[in-house]
Amino acid sequence: MGEAPSTKNWKALQQKYVDQIIQRARSSDPRIRQALVRYPRHFFAPKSADLNEIYSDNVVQVLQKDHEVVSTMSQPSLVVAMTELLKIKKGEKILEIGTSSGYSTALLSAVNEFPDRVYTVEYQADLEAFARDHFKKCGLEQIHTRIGDGFFGWSEYAPYDVITGSVAFPALPRPLVEQLADGGRIALPLALDEEGLAPYFIAKKTGLKLEGRFWGSPLFFVPLKGEQNLEAPFLQVAPADVMQAMKGSETKITTHELKWDELGGLFLYIALKKNKLMGLPAGRSLRGWVLDSQNFMLFDLKNLYFRGSSEFIARAKGLLNEWMEYGKPHLDDYVLEIDLTRNIKFDGWRVWDCQIQSFLKL
Ligand SMILES: C[S@@+](CC[C@H](N)C(=O)[O-])C[C@H]1O[C@@H](n2cnc3c(N)ncnc32)[C@H](O)[C@@H]1O
Repeated sequence: MGEAPSTKNWKALQQKYVDQIIQRARSSDPRIRQALVRYPRHFFAPKSADLNEIYSDNVVQVLQKDHEVVSTMSQPSLVVAMTELLKIKKGEKILEIGTSSGYSTALLSAVNEFPDRVYTVEYQADLEAFARDHFKKCGLEQIHTRIGDGFFGWSEYAPYDVITGSVAFPALPRPLVEQLADGGRIALPLALDEEGLAPYFIAKKTGLKLEGRFWGSPLFFVPLKGEQNLEAPFLQVAPADVMQAMKGSETKITTHELKWDELGGLFLYIALKKNKLMGLPAGRSLRGWVLDSQNFMLFDLKNLYFRGSSEFIARAKGLLNEWMEYGKPHLDDYVLEIDLTRNIKFDGWRVWDCQIQSFLKL
């Protein structure tokens, strides 16, 4: 943290960087290009960061505590792609969780064009001050900053049209969903697994429904810190118990040729057909669904396991073949619809009981 690094020759680097980010994020919003130019990334980076590293599509480390990286500047093309997907309109009120250097906050404020309608919450007190310095440098003092646990949002200024962040949530916090306006959009890395990977989840709230989908493959994100007050899991099954139950009796299908999001798609397809989706706490790289108390399946990135009655296994295999015939639709092809009136825990991959509306592309 501290002063920006030497600024010698940064303009040429920035020009290349802007083109690269716009291209990688497939951004077509002119406000984003302007913001990338107007808010030089090195204004936000720690003193120790190298200028070439800053002007690349890379994560830049911001803060380490006890040998753990607790804050980074996220990969810029990802921040831009997410901002674009949120379709932010002029004047919309935005809540960001995880300010870090404030770079993504500055981009958000350029897109809604009203910095005083941007609210950002940071867990690490020293980073809030770090970001405020950067906002000052950019004439963005009107951005509202707060030190706190973003799991609980910022209720004082709710509702928000947009809630976003690039810190990984183990579960979708109910307070954030409650603080979202009708018609509001939320985008967060969700359902962090034990390896630190999470995919983005993007959803829209309409009345008492939340409709969303997972976007892209799981990536490394800084994990959410704090007392998250998570309720007890909806489904009381420990991964270890499931693995024990699987031993020796599972039907295993090797799926090396499938990509992660295709496997996720397969699960959603099967759940769609069963009109029910319930998850298990994810073990190490293990994700799975229980379809009822006796029949379930799991996948671990390489294999797909079924366990249950022979009827269930035959049906599951039939669905697998059907899904293959559809051309292996993946996660982006599904919409999940969550009824907000029901007392469920929003837990990404892990614990959901919701309707899966349809394939989008079929
Ligand atoms: C990857 S950084 C954010 C990057 C920044 N938004 C950007 O794109 O440049 C994640 C930030 O979330 C913060 N964070 C972690 N847990 C949090 C919590 N419970 N509430 C608010 N912020 C949190 C971390 O301290 C870190 O600064």
